[in-house]
Amino acid sequence: MKKLVAGNWKMHGVAADLEQVRAIAEASRRFPSVDVALCVPATLIERAARAVPGFAIGAQDVHFAEKGAHTGCVCTAMLTDAGASLTIVGHSERRDSQRESDADVKAKSEAALGAGLGVILCVGESLAQREAGEAVRTASGQLDASLPHGEPAAAGVPDRLAVAYEPIWAIGTGKVASCEDIAEIHRALRERLVAAYGEAGDRVRILYGGSVKASNAPEIFAVADVDGALVGGASLSAEDFVPIIAAAAAVEAAPPIA
Ligand code: 13P
Repeated sequence: MKKLVAGNWKMHGVAADLEQVRAIAEASRRFPSVDVALCVPATLIERAARAVPGFAIGAQDVHFAEKGAHTGCVCTAMLTDAGASLTIVGHSERRDSQRESDADVKAKSEAALGAGLGVILCVGESLAQREAGEAVRTASGQLDASLPHGEPAAAGVPDRLAVAYEPIWAIGTGKVASCEDIAEIHRALRERLVAAYGEAGDRVRILYGGSVKASNAPEIFAVADVDGALVGGASLSAEDFVPIIAAAAAVEAAPPIA
């Protein structure tokens, strides 16, 4: 499966940073075996999309409603109008701070797929849940409850849907899940995808996210069922991000180690 390496710029990025968007898009052409995307702040989508035609620029969230009285929110039509081709949904930072439920995340992914956008749907356990031995159950349960179903899902699976496993305790902390832990969760998520979509579930990409850097990317990408990465801090500059894309390209042909 072609790997997807996506950057999540979170609340970083103003006009001056378009230089990094350009540099990343330009460098990613050297790695045609890897799909690359950058999910930038909503305010930067249109300018980023104009700066790098043909390169995938995404959003970090979307509302599930078509339009209406939702102050501060952005709908799918606004994203496509601005030039976005995908969006993240269900990131733990939104599940926490904006109290997004699995049902919200499901509605968002269905709306985005229905509008023709790609979706990166995030799941992942907290440290307390991992320490309680609940990691697999938490991530699988979130996926079951937030996976898109119905017509829009059928149209978007597997090509436009990716799932990102992001253990909350590994985000921005420098702590990375072990290859064994990643393999265990990704295997469980794969089973849930196949249960939901049949054979097509085998072709949905499962990304790992949480302190991915150039130094740990090669071993993470070599784990079975790791089909790419969702990268936060290390996606903000070409200097840090391009070596991660290169690592994904390098393991493309190599056999899985776990
Ligand atoms: P970091 O790579 O900064 O840990 O962030 C991961 C993340 O949350 C990507 O969505």
